[in-house]
Amino acid sequence: MKLLVLGSGGREHALVWKLAQSPHPTRLWVAPGNGGTAQERLANGRLVENVPIKAEDLPQLLAFAQEHRPDLTVVGPDNPLALGVVDLFQENGFKIWGPNRRAAQFEASKAFSQDFMLRHGIPTARSGTFSDPAAARRFCEELGGRCAVKADGLALGKGVLLTTSVAEAHRAVDEIMVDRAFGAAGSQAVIQELLEGMEISLHALCDGKTARLFPTAQDHKRALDGDQGLNTGGMGTYSPAPFLSEAELASVGRQILEPWLAGCAAEGIDFRGLLYPGVMLTAAGPKVLEFNARFGDPETQVYLTRLENDLVELLMASVEGTLNRTELRWSSDASVCVVAASGGYPGDYRKGVAIQGLEAAAARPGVKVFHAGTALKDGTLVTTGGRVLGVTAWAPTLQRARDEAYAALGLVHFEGMQFRRDIAAKALTPAS
Ligand code: AMP
Ligand code: GLY
Repeated sequence: MKLLVLGSGGREHALVWKLAQSPHPTRLWVAPGNGGTAQERLANGRLVENVPIKAEDLPQLLAFAQEHRPDLTVVGPDNPLALGVVDLFQENGFKIWGPNRRAAQFEASKAFSQDFMLRHGIPTARSGTFSDPAAARRFCEELGGRCAVKADGLALGKGVLLTTSVAEAHRAVDEIMVDRAFGAAGSQAVIQELLEGMEISLHALCDGKTARLFPTAQDHKRALDGDQGLNTGGMGTYSPAPFLSEAELASVGRQILEPWLAGCAAEGIDFRGLLYPGVMLTAAGPKVLEFNARFGDPETQVYLTRLENDLVELLMASVEGTLNRTELRWSSDASVCVVAASGGYPGDYRKGVAIQGLEAAAARPGVKVFHAGTALKDGTLVTTGGRVLGVTAWAPTLQRARDEAYAALGLVHFEGMQFRRDIAAKALTPAS
């Protein structure tokens, strides 16, 4: 079976690593991939092949598929989904995993998602959707200025401003809706009440009718220790997160997924892919902050090091609508991923810096170094992005997984490397 994976981040390296462990693939291409994906080997000994086509270049991707006939294409990032890569491939007779353009609106439009949640009784923050800045400002006043002001469209995870006073909230509305700091994504804004509590990531694999909930994970979105600094794509994750028992997780999953599935059925939305709700566990119960329509990054790195199923078979079941016959199986190990980022990220940073120590880190048992912004240049591995590596370790306890991830990270070096030292710390020293 021939596979094509779209994307180039740590999430895609983790997907490729896990897909390559299956006996099914005979050939696996990644467009465009990174310095790590091209080092993975399939069960038949063949190397994974990077293809220099961007994940958003739909015409080139289709041409590649027409020439090489992949049996399944797996979409990693949100952009190609919002651009309709799934619809395009399906129209041309190709099997592809991921939500179609309409279903991908859960991530591509916060206004769509928020209105859907209100229509179908999915627990979420008190909120409103606005295209008129004056009305948006009035709603912020009603909320006493304690708001999350969000640009409607995709803004690389950056289009959200949290405010605690009316003056700040007014400025946030102006920035997003008037100055268009995030471009056209700000023609509409969703404003939510500011929620307090513990934030967790949920993932559910869906096939249009059935949703299979993953264990919990927690991301660390801020750049600096103690959740300080700017928002990033995610500086580290761990799974499971200890804030919900299994029974509580099942209950939270039901509260979100049952009305979500019923709403999709009622509105004729055929979601085959990964639904990733960001959830705040508040004193008044779980509330969905947003939906993503793809695997999280770096959540994927910790999930796939715990997943025991064959990922090719799972994604095929999601495409073909047979998830009701499949149970997810998870290792009881905990997994921790610490992201090594370029100095300055999420602001400006240097590229092309040589990376050392990867062999020593990779040689440790129970460790996998996933690449994100890396490339092989004249035989040397160099940095090409903000998030460079996701050093991931798994072990019977969270403490050991965390110690091992940091020990492996300590063997890796590149100039300007920055990382958080407190990944998973919240789980080990609960706030008193
Ligand atoms: P989003 O992209 O909508 O998940 O927002 C980015 C981040 O902002 C989330 O991961 C939360 O940490 C924070 N956030 C979003 N909405 C809210 C809210 N209503 N209350 C508190 N924090 C929020
Ligand atoms: N971990 C954050 C994201 O994937 O959006």
